[in-house]
Amino acid sequence: MISEATKARFAREVAKYPADQKQSAVMACLSIVQQEQGWVSPEAEKDVAEYLGMPAIAVHEVTTFYNMYNQQPVGKFKLNVCTNLPCLLRDGKNAAEYLSKKLNVELGGTTADGLFSLQECECLGACADAPVMLVNDRQMCSFMTPERLDALVEELTAAAKQGVK
Ligand code: FES
Repeated sequence: MISEATKARFAREVAKYPADQKQSAVMACLSIVQQEQGWVSPEAEKDVAEYLGMPAIAVHEVTTFYNMYNQQPVGKFKLNVCTNLPCLLRDGKNAAEYLSKKLNVELGGTTADGLFSLQECECLGACADAPVMLVNDRQMCSFMTPERLDALVEELTAAAKQGVK
């Protein structure tokens, strides 16, 4: 069920396109859903499809094509570590494995306390800063050595304790 406030946000995105092409706003609407609910549920996909007047399967195709959309609930902090080739050549895989061991969670999993989800991701467009990672689809982190990973986890853990979103 989409709230009126969410519909208003959808409407702002739809207004950016010609009236007969409102489905062009599908990615933006899915991002709004994810921001508000933390993930894109099958029900939310149906709601977006209905709002935009497009088949639910077409919305599902978008959700499943882009790995930034969460298809299941994730932890408070989603950590995406880039393991594409340029990052891989500069310790991207090591960064992912380091976090996996440190947080005691498999790649693709969420820690038992629900604080961190750890995932590999595709190129984030900042290869010169390798290894790079992204926190909650917004915060880019560069040159992620073990020391910097330790500092990041410490910072996020402290933020969680203070109730920071
Ligand atoms: Fe990692 Fe491009 S390969 S940012």
